[in-house]
Amino acid sequence: MLLEEIIDKKVLVRLDYNVPIEDGIILNDFRIRQTYNTLNSLLDNNNKLIIASHLGRPTEGSYDESLSLEPICKYLSTKLNKKIQFIKDVNDTIDFTNHDIAMLENVRFNIGEKKCDPKLSQTIASLADIFVFDAFGVSHRSECTTTGVANYLETVAGLNIRYEIQTINKLINEQSRPMTIIISGAKVSTKIVLIKKLLAKCDYMILGGGILNTFLRAKGYEVGKSLIEEGYVSDAVKILESDFADKIIFPSDFSCATEDGIANVELSRISTNDTIYDLGSASINEIKNIVRKSVSVFWNGPLGYVEKKPFNKGTEELAKAIADHNCFSIVGGGDTLPIIENLKLQNGYNCLSTGGGSLLTYLEGGSLPIIDKLNLR
Ligand code: 3PG
Repeated sequence: MLLEEIIDKKVLVRLDYNVPIEDGIILNDFRIRQTYNTLNSLLDNNNKLIIASHLGRPTEGSYDESLSLEPICKYLSTKLNKKIQFIKDVNDTIDFTNHDIAMLENVRFNIGEKKCDPKLSQTIASLADIFVFDAFGVSHRSECTTTGVANYLETVAGLNIRYEIQTINKLINEQSRPMTIIISGAKVSTKIVLIKKLLAKCDYMILGGGILNTFLRAKGYEVGKSLIEEGYVSDAVKILESDFADKIIFPSDFSCATEDGIANVELSRISTNDTIYDLGSASINEIKNIVRKSVSVFWNGPLGYVEKKPFNKGTEELAKAIADHNCFSIVGGGDTLPIIENLKLQNGYNCLSTGGGSLLTYLEGGSLPIIDKLNLR
């Protein structure tokens, strides 16, 4: 069944409203905005909606005000211009007499959500006639409100997840070459398997952040005080000894904090007191040229210490280069998307993915049980 065919039903809609929030203020609403099409389409067909989402990683069974979905409920109500009943407890009565939408409190406050408890899954499923899953960001988890509920209700893909998976499949299956993959972030440990698998699929790989520094150390370069993961240097060495190692683009210079202030330092001249915070000017041009010869680009993670100017330069120049170039492009990750939106470059990308860990899991061919259940792969 397609989402557009759901009419006059009580629909449980699983969304990913795990957004950055501080003292009840939503710092970035990208994931919320991406759900409006699904919600409006269901409302247009006279359905009653029960929205479920998690926020953060609370201890099950204990209420944590900072992770309550109440501020998000109010925000959504304003944006949709509709009344929403906020349901603090899954056992509370949902009464649709005066409104068409209800929102459950953070599902991870419930004991059993994380381990996909069948009883809790059944309780939540009993609230609705049908289940719409539109939370790509959490699709790599097997929890009550992902796979659990799907065991008891007919399950249909939301509009956003349908679009995202179609677009990502296009990147994976059509293999528009040359393909450049950019993987950056503080920790190589979380992405080492991904790097190994994606190296086989792409033509160029650009690394950044602590991940790149660890590879530089593995190549024998001095990286000074830069962030690295010592315990993963040997894994990086193994990748560098593999058949595909020459696809990794190693920058020739960096923007560093040195004893004499911020300086552009050549790779071979980095000293023990320097800290790498961004790509250098020559390297920024090198990666822009790589992007310009690419037919498809996948990007995850800012390249440098973007919170601190001028170390945001490499990331911003890369964001502009991809948006300006006529290539098939997908970008994901909660740290990268706000940069693209702040620069107003979103129209230059084919897909800004709501996925984080799930996107990477999907790309490396890992397990996403709900996606398989929906036959989206
Ligand atoms: C995310 O932000 O990546 C998703 O919402 C999943 O959150 P989790 O890693 O806490 O399951």
